[in-house]
Amino acid sequence: MARDVGSGLSTTPKDLSPWPKYFYDAEGSRLFEEITAQPEYYQTGAELSILKSRSEEILARTRCRELVELGSGSASKTRALIDAMIDANGADGPPPRYVPLDVSESALRESGERLVAEYPGLEIQGFVGDFDLSLGRLLGRPSDRNRLVAFLGGTVGNFTPQKRRKFLGALRAGLREGDRALIGLDLVKDARTLEAAYNDAAGVTARFNRNMIRVINNRLGAGLDPDLFSHRAVYDADLERIEMWLYSEAEQKVQTPDLEARFEGGEGVRTEISAKFTPESAARTFEQSGLELLDIYTDDRDLFALALGGPA
Ligand code: SAH
Ligand code: TRP
Repeated sequence: MARDVGSGLSTTPKDLSPWPKYFYDAEGSRLFEEITAQPEYYQTGAELSILKSRSEEILARTRCRELVELGSGSASKTRALIDAMIDANGADGPPPRYVPLDVSESALRESGERLVAEYPGLEIQGFVGDFDLSLGRLLGRPSDRNRLVAFLGGTVGNFTPQKRRKFLGALRAGLREGDRALIGLDLVKDARTLEAAYNDAAGVTARFNRNMIRVINNRLGAGLDPDLFSHRAVYDADLERIEMWLYSEAEQKVQTPDLEARFEGGEGVRTEISAKFTPESAARTFEQSGLELLDIYTDDRDLFALALGGPA
């Protein structure tokens, strides 16, 4: 982490967006859940409506009996897929299995415990891990069934373009014949709707953004003042992405054995990007990674999409 943060704070402009995982300590996971409940944040509701109306069809057509979920978080939307997997499972087949992976141990534990209690017939095997590092190993585990690898919440949009290609390439390489991938993508729309979603009136996204400074302090002893940072999220229509930034209102210095950095007053650091897609750019993204795009499901208002793919 010291190496990542050190390199992110030594470029011009400063850029921590290649490492979104540093948002998610227990407090970050909690704040993220709170973001999903904000009225401006349309994504969760839109994605859930697609999952509710299409899960049965998706499970009937893919006939998957193992659901692998990357960055599962609270797994609250996942129930639609789990329900459909259980319903589609004939009495004679092997029991359905759920395999979540998340870097946030607290989120994984809480969601796992809830699902164990709720679904007595479901096998659950959760992993705490970083999908940048362990996707190959996760998908390389032996399995006697077809797998559906779900990556919800538009998290694939939080990768830099380079990391996105690498990640989807690794996902493609890990899919076996009969496996499928289901990837949530936020769609291009007007800047006002997009910017409102990342600048909610209650200031929850601002707190989430500043939490990265707290994580850096807690883990690296950086001693930055989170309250000196102000949050801003802007939509770049050319690059079709939201950028989240933190601006330091005063000069600040970090000097530890592992990390040295300095913010000028007014200087910003990009903390996250969130790419938006069109059906065309989604198709291109899949194709570049060797994934065959089988279908794109959208909600009634065309806010969000779920792309279903298989090994090409
Ligand atoms: N899928 C959930 C959560 C999305 S938020 C939803 O749709 O609501 C992104 C999730 O990915 C968080 O739970 C976070 O802890 C996890 N995450 C972020 N970076 C990660 C990484 N490198 N490896 C594994 N999980 C990661
Ligand atoms: N991937 C989703 C998005 O980009 C969720 C998310 C990740 C998010 N980090 C965020 C939402 C920060 C708001 C703020 O929208």
